[in-house]
Amino acid sequence: MDAKSLLSVSSQNTPIPSLLNPKNSLSLSLVQSRKWVSFRTKNLLAPQTVRYSRRLECINSVQKVKHAVDEEDTKAGIKKKNLAVFVSGGGSNFRSIHDACVGGSIHGDVVVLVTNKLGCGGAEYARDKGIPVILFPKSKDEANGLSPTDLVAALRKFEVDFILLAGYLKLIPVELTRAFPRSMLNIHPSLLPAFGGKGYYGMKVHNAVIASGARYSGPTIHFVDEHYDTGRILAQRVVPVLWNDTAQDLAARVLQEEHRLYVEVVAALCEERVIWREDGVPIIQTKENANDYS
Ligand code: GRF
Repeated sequence: MDAKSLLSVSSQNTPIPSLLNPKNSLSLSLVQSRKWVSFRTKNLLAPQTVRYSRRLECINSVQKVKHAVDEEDTKAGIKKKNLAVFVSGGGSNFRSIHDACVGGSIHGDVVVLVTNKLGCGGAEYARDKGIPVILFPKSKDEANGLSPTDLVAALRKFEVDFILLAGYLKLIPVELTRAFPRSMLNIHPSLLPAFGGKGYYGMKVHNAVIASGARYSGPTIHFVDEHYDTGRILAQRVVPVLWNDTAQDLAARVLQEEHRLYVEVVAALCEERVIWREDGVPIIQTKENANDYS
């Protein structure tokens, strides 16, 4: 699939093809959205310390509204990571991850948003921020959706390093888990393996926790395999379940913790602090001490 068909999957984006200038080894890719056109240049001659310059210009105005920002793309020798976020709903986790990228606490950029619902809050937010939106999967109602193979090709075009599921309700096909091994995370609002699997999503999870009498709940972040909620657990946070909690009360308390935990974990992932134990369990090296893990 070429850049044109790739970008045309978002109803809000107008395609502009990528350009390559062989003379000075600068590759230039352009992404245009309803409000913004963004230019991204990459010096292919300097792979170690790649520098990017970005410029956002308002399509409706000749005036530049934001100045080019030169930024060092490496931090302590670690390349900045490209992130794809998948959402189906409001996207509050997506927003907190995006904010942390913009604010610099995550050494990464959200380069594309994937959704099965073009009208969801997360997709709206992405369009507003000039982030390309891709519809996946294809469905009877949405002819523009991509097939799994096309999605893999699209994510490769965006040079995606990691995929972050943040309230994406569709099962991830095997084509994707194979193409991105040990590179895809999901957040679930209970302490897995309890209250997970097919049918456990949204308020159903919190209702089941309360009905069970469990005194603790909390978010789990795990790597994604081709089943619901069964991939290796990377991080968890405990939240109390109070005697008079409604599902909404508990959901709000857990969600607050989700925002903190997902940002911390993605920061670790982008800083290459996720280590795989010999038995296949992923652990996180703490920022403070290279010999300390959680
Ligand atoms: C979160 O509770 C997350 O754990 C689950 O879906 C919800 C998404 O919420 N997978 P939001 O769209 O990020 O607000």
